[in-house]
Amino acid sequence: MIEVKELSKHYPDKVALDKISLAFPAEKTTAIVGPSGSGKSTLLQALNLLERPDQGLLSIDDLTLDLAKPLTNNQILKVRQKTAMVFQEKALFTHLTVLKNLTEGPIKVQKKSKEEAEKKAFELLEQFDMSALSNRYPYQLSGGQQQRVAILRALAMQPKYLLLDEPTSALDPELEAQVLRVLKDLAAKDVSMIIVTHNMAFAEQVADQIVFIDNGQVGYAGPSTAFFHSENARIKQFLGAMSF
Ligand SMILES: Nc1ncnc2c1ncn2[C@@H]1O[C@H](COP(=O)(O)OP(=O)(O)O)[C@@H](O)[C@H]1O
Ligand SMILES: [Mg+2]
Repeated sequence: MIEVKELSKHYPDKVALDKISLAFPAEKTTAIVGPSGSGKSTLLQALNLLERPDQGLLSIDDLTLDLAKPLTNNQILKVRQKTAMVFQEKALFTHLTVLKNLTEGPIKVQKKSKEEAEKKAFELLEQFDMSALSNRYPYQLSGGQQQRVAILRALAMQPKYLLLDEPTSALDPELEAQVLRVLKDLAAKDVSMIIVTHNMAFAEQVADQIVFIDNGQVGYAGPSTAFFHSENARIKQFLGAMSF
C-alpha cells in the first residue's frame, strides 16, 4: 500500500496540495480525477518523489519517509524501485528500437543482463500482442502504439506500483481505446495502478477506488460506485461538467 498523511505542497503563489491524507491499496486500481489545476499531477509526482512535497509522510509498503526532513539518495532509490511513471506525452527514446526501449532501464539502471532484460521484454510484447513491433523505431509507430510501448517500458522495470498521468489525453479516440484496453488488462491482472484520468467512463469501469482532488484537497476518496452515484453537490457539479 502507498499512503500519504498530511501531505502539503506550496508554490510561491499557490497551495497545490493542502494536507492530503490518502491510501492507495496494492493490487487495486485507483483513478485520480478532478478539475484542471486541482493538484492531480502534483500528487502523483509526489508519490515517486519527482515532485518534493514541503511536508507530510509518505509510506510505501514498509518504508515511511518524513518529507519535511532531507531524504537520502538511498531512500529516494527505494521509492523509485517500487514505482514507475507513465506520462501524458509519449516519451520513448527516439533513437532506440521498441525492444531497446524496453531493455534500456533494466540493463542500465537495474544492472540486469542483456539476456534477462530481453526475455522479459519479449514476454511483455507477447502478452500485449505487440511482438511484431519489436524492431521498429518510435517514428514507425502510431501514437497509440507508442503510448502502449511507454506503458510496457514502465512495466519492464517490474514496479510494484504503476503511476500514469493522463496516459491517453494526447490521443484521438480510437488510439485512446487501444491504450485503455491495455490498462484494463493490467487492472484485471491485479497490477497496482494509480491513474490520473479525465475519462470518467473508464474510471467508472476499471477503478476500484476513486480519488477526487478539488482545489488541492480531497473531495472524495472511496469506492467507485458511491462516487458516480453521489448526491454531494460538488461531485454532481463536477460529473455534470464532464458530460459522459
Ligand atoms: N512548478 C510550478 N510552479 C508554480 N505553480 C505550479 C507548478 N506546478 C503546478 N503548479 C500549480 O499548482 C496547481 C496544481 O497543478 P497540477 O498538479 O499540475 O494540477 P492538475 O494536474 O490537476 O491539472 C495549479 O494551480 C498549477 O498552476
Ligand atoms: Mg495534470
